[in-house]
Amino acid sequence: MLNTLSQYLLKDLTIKNHTLHNRMVLAPMAGLGHIALRQLISEFGGFGLLFTGMCSAKAVPHENPNTSLVFKWRQEELKHLVCQLFGSDAESMSRAAERIEKEGFFGVDLNFGCSVAAICKKGCGAALLKNPDLCSKIVKSVSKSVSIPVFVKFRIGWENNPQFAVDMARRFEDAGADALTFHPRVAPDRRNRPPQWEIIKLVQQAVSIPVFGNGNLFQAEDGARMIEQTSCQGLSVGRMAVARPWLFAQWTNGFSPGEDIFFTTARRLTQILLDYYDDPFAVKLFKKFSPYFCANFKFGHHMLKKLVRAQTMDDIRNNLDSIFESTPETLLRPNLNLFL
Ligand SMILES: Cc1cc2nc3c(=O)[nH]c(=O)nc-3n(C[C@H](O)[C@H](O)[C@H](O)COP(=O)(O)O)c2cc1C
Repeated sequence: MLNTLSQYLLKDLTIKNHTLHNRMVLAPMAGLGHIALRQLISEFGGFGLLFTGMCSAKAVPHENPNTSLVFKWRQEELKHLVCQLFGSDAESMSRAAERIEKEGFFGVDLNFGCSVAAICKKGCGAALLKNPDLCSKIVKSVSKSVSIPVFVKFRIGWENNPQFAVDMARRFEDAGADALTFHPRVAPDRRNRPPQWEIIKLVQQAVSIPVFGNGNLFQAEDGARMIEQTSCQGLSVGRMAVARPWLFAQWTNGFSPGEDIFFTTARRLTQILLDYYDDPFAVKLFKKFSPYFCANFKFGHHMLKKLVRAQTMDDIRNNLDSIFESTPETLLRPNLNLFL
């Protein structure tokens, strides 16, 4: 099964005038998909593209990557890095996309999917789906402003109406989007209900641009099943790639993790975080990563409690050392109670 999955994931995929040699991508995740986690994932390899967490379209045109905590990247990752924007109007999204193109990113991704109240209150993210004409206007304007690929990430809408998602997919394509990432949940649902993969199929059938399926991809079996059930052109993986940053290498390159992979990976992340951030902020980001990491273990709740009882990165490292003195029992599927 892993063989067939990797064969599919390693088939070329054309997005606008670019050919990807790998169809598995890191989903955008604010607070998780930062420069340090992306470097960690890159050290294992095996992905086609990485997406940044959402960046404010209003801030991006004058953001300084040397001082920004979010709008920050390594030069060598730009060739496979897509910057995600959230915003509420065509003008600011287009100006921000121009900056992204100028910096040399592979592409720009427009967020029509985030249902967090703070974002929706500003008329951004999934709130835009309440105004399909504005969605079209934004995508049209951005795709006219830049020549790099324009991605759109969206969800079903505010009601459980698959036809709405299909109509939006067509609208995005007509407005100039080059690829879609579809997360098949209704906006009020966060991640507490299962995603409706069958709607990925409807979206995929409705357009001729590539569609990346997203939602609850945990094990290679899930990836194979999503492809089989939906015929989506690629897989977008979020939380599981945080829990196991080697997941791309495992699914596409035959990487076989050794027994100490959890310990060495968490330890490595502490180092990379400190390469980019001061100690308090690095600790904060490690604590955000921790629930996903601990979801890999049978007694993950206890581990998490112990791990986050830390003020400094030295504390985190000492906690890791003591947790891994005994070999904690791992789970094949993550503990979803920790996987928020
Ligand atoms: C902590 C966190 C932050 C997220 N931030 C973003 C974001 O900035 N932009 C976005 O489009 N989706 C965001 N998402 C949603 C993910 O991209 C993805 O759609 C969701 O986690 C489902 O995929 P998964 O089951 O593979 O995790 C976020 C998810 C999590 C858990």
